Amino acid sequence: MRNIMYAAVGLMMTTATAMAAGTPYHEGSATIIEPTDERNPLAEVVSGIDFRKSMIREMQEDEFSNPGMIVVDYGAEIWEQVDGTAGKSLSDVWESCAGMDAATAAVSYPRYHDGAGKVISLEQQINYCRETAMGAEPYKWEKADMLGMTAFIRYQGNGEAINVSIDGPAAATYERGKELYYQRVGQLDMSCAHCHEDNYGNYIRADMLSQGHINGFPTYRVKWNGVGSTHRRFRGCNGNIRATKLAYGHEDYVALELYLAWRGNGLTVETPAVRQ
Ligand code: HEC
Repeated sequence: MRNIMYAAVGLMMTTATAMAAGTPYHEGSATIIEPTDERNPLAEVVSGIDFRKSMIREMQEDEFSNPGMIVVDYGAEIWEQVDGTAGKSLSDVWESCAGMDAATAAVSYPRYHDGAGKVISLEQQINYCRETAMGAEPYKWEKADMLGMTAFIRYQGNGEAINVSIDGPAAATYERGKELYYQRVGQLDMSCAHCHEDNYGNYIRADMLSQGHINGFPTYRVKWNGVGSTHRRFRGCNGNIRATKLAYGHEDYVALELYLAWRGNGLTVETPAVRQ
């Protein structure tokens, strides 16, 4: 079994090398966009995929080989499924409950929602609609149903530009997210900025550091052998610098998520992205 797997990977790598198209980033063929907001500290905005090797890029780009598509398909199934006391599916209630269609939602979260009275992530919007409009139990974060539903909704906006708002009622959450991004934490006393703002394009062990954007989440990771949320990635990055991991859905992670999404405004949605 193992030998077969190695042989298969070997084959993929050879094909991949033959087709390699320049990027990772420093080789010069990355898609680089200008920030859409002058407050963005990045001089250039580059999707995480441009920092990955060709084998990973090809896995992401070909829907038949992208393992994350299974999760999107599952999401499509439960999107139509009736659940809860109101006898409705999420597809029935979504537009009136979230206040926008799924494709718009894909590029707009985290976002201030009147009903919730605060900035919420897509996961929280899904549970808000399940509880208030469907009379259904909330999904658990990082479980199959929630990952499927978030992946499916984001996928509706695939190829569209991320466009989250940090103004008006979202301003305080943005400020909090920014503060967290530059705060040194953990035994290694590092901030997100040390790796993803000051050192993108440089290697850390075997990995080339990206700008830490979230346009491809939920993302399939080879290391996870499955799909995970932005908050799972935040927990991983916190753990790597020996900092405290916050709970899934923690308001500080939502604030960080809003801040990161905004730094990547203008990048297109790439859900489900593939990473090593
Ligand atoms: C010690 C360096 C380091 C620090 C500090 C760090 N990360 Fe990361 N992060 C990585 C590495 C390595 C990866 C995988 C390669 C990549 O995409 O940059 C990664 C990946 C990511 C990704 C996935 C990007 C993608 O395109 O898939 C996100 C999002 C992210 N980090 C967010 C954060 C946040 C938020 C913080 C601060 C709380 C943080 N990171 C702190 C090293 C770091």
